[in-house]
Amino acid sequence: MTTDLGKKVIYQIYPKSFYDSDHDGIGDLRGIIEKIPYLAKLNIDMIWFNPFFVSPQNDNGYDIADYRQIDPRFGTMADFEELVAKLKEVKIDVMLDMVLNHCSTEHEWFQKALAGEEKYQKYFYLRPKKADGSLPTNWSSKFGGPAWSRFGETDLYYLHLYDKTQADLDWHNPEVRKEAAAIVNFWKAKGVKGFRFDVINVIGKANELVDSTDPVQEKRLYTDTPIVHQYLKELNQASFGQDETIITVGEMSSTNFASSIKYSDPAEHELSMVFTFHHLKVDYADGEKWSNVPFDLMTLKKCLTDWQVEMDQGGGWNALFWNNHDQPFALNRFGDTKKYRVRSAQMLAAALHLLRGTPYIYMGEEIGMVDPTYTKIKDYVDVEALNAYQALQEKGYSASAAFAIVKTKARDNSRTPMHWDSSSQAGFSTTTPWLRPTGQEQINVKAELEHGTIFNFYQKLIQLRKNERLISDGHFKARFAKHQQVFSYERYLDDDSQKLLVFNNFSARFAELELPATDRFAGKTLVTNMGQTYEKLPQTLKLAPYETLAFKFDRPKL
Ligand code: NOJ
Ligand code: MG
Repeated sequence: MTTDLGKKVIYQIYPKSFYDSDHDGIGDLRGIIEKIPYLAKLNIDMIWFNPFFVSPQNDNGYDIADYRQIDPRFGTMADFEELVAKLKEVKIDVMLDMVLNHCSTEHEWFQKALAGEEKYQKYFYLRPKKADGSLPTNWSSKFGGPAWSRFGETDLYYLHLYDKTQADLDWHNPEVRKEAAAIVNFWKAKGVKGFRFDVINVIGKANELVDSTDPVQEKRLYTDTPIVHQYLKELNQASFGQDETIITVGEMSSTNFASSIKYSDPAEHELSMVFTFHHLKVDYADGEKWSNVPFDLMTLKKCLTDWQVEMDQGGGWNALFWNNHDQPFALNRFGDTKKYRVRSAQMLAAALHLLRGTPYIYMGEEIGMVDPTYTKIKDYVDVEALNAYQALQEKGYSASAAFAIVKTKARDNSRTPMHWDSSSQAGFSTTTPWLRPTGQEQINVKAELEHGTIFNFYQKLIQLRKNERLISDGHFKARFAKHQQVFSYERYLDDDSQKLLVFNNFSARFAELELPATDRFAGKTLVTNMGQTYEKLPQTLKLAPYETLAFKFDRPKL
């Protein structure tokens, strides 16, 4: 691999919430520039920025009205160029978010289409109602309600798999594909070295759109269709593929192993890696996100294991992550935010960073930030959360029951301003921010750097990945698959000369494992969050609540 994907760690910044340098309540590019020394300290290789292009912000920038301009609320093109240059000085590359499945209805393409220009009408899925007067298809928007809205004053409807202000682009049209490549090339020319492609596996809708029979089958109608691979190969060739040092990641909604392998197998010339989400659905009741049930560790273990093994065997590559701007903090879901906040944050970090793939750290994760303690629905701003709050009540939930569910699952949970210190607005801004801080301002960067141990722990994991081939290249094998508390695995190299054994206690109780003689050779502890080191693992290994331990040894030649 020319880009050494296994050695890199990528950090994600949600610009709206990172640091507000001009004190208008919205994070901005100059704010990020001010915080470069902090970012450099972590020793990450690249930063993925959520979109900061011109946008009405109906979906926080995923509704783009101009792909080539910085939205003035975030700064200027000069700020962006300065940001790229200054990050480069500290050896951090930039990854931008390409939202090419849809554009804002305020984009000039949509506006020209509305004004009657045929060329631009062909950029979208415009369809008449069915003969019986119903919408062109019975599909639902992923944010609630139907996936079709009326196209101006005409008799036509346009498709939107997301918000009604996010019109799906018709990739069958070669002009659309050309526009997509030109946008990528525009940013590539500005020194951008990474691209994240938003919901890229839904760009291949059929030409003939038909009704679905049920919600699961509905997704199949437009997800992972064979033509997506063709479009990606074409995009690769026409843009980022011309520079082999560029890293790409596709966000894959409801995908499967075979497709993900194909998207990320270097021999296919599509993408470098994929984000998949099955491991973050283990606290959904019967697949329903808007539910409130504890997570199932056995399902989580199996899911992580299957994605590790299948992708390795098929030649694919995983992006590894617990958090992003669409997810509540993993610490609230899989850890313990009270008694064992620090220890469980470290355990989650190690459990993920020692897997095979490229790890992503979401801003705030490295200081153990947690979900906000909001008490009213008015504190939430995300269109998806507000729609779900309504929909749950329409289904018969009381307002307080609906609120309790929204509170655990809202995307706003992780979009809260980064906590820099314990001053007002958590040091993010001097004015009221667009989204309130979490109410847990004692968790902040200043306190963490002064006396915390989570940030250091991340630094160490990042360094280890650069130094240890077992971590960057090794294969994965699940261990103790049936253990009810511990997620354990080993990493090994092709020649089987060395092994890394990893143990993660996902519970607040002590755990025990009986180790076979083949695990018990002299070696060294690479990672511990308990200060517990071994020269050789004991026969009965005892793990404290949320303990993580990684032990490396050479296998004696037999
Ligand atoms: C996935 C993005 O991560 C999410 O924030 C956005 O709402 C949808 N794609 C639609 O663009
Ligand atoms: Mg600002």
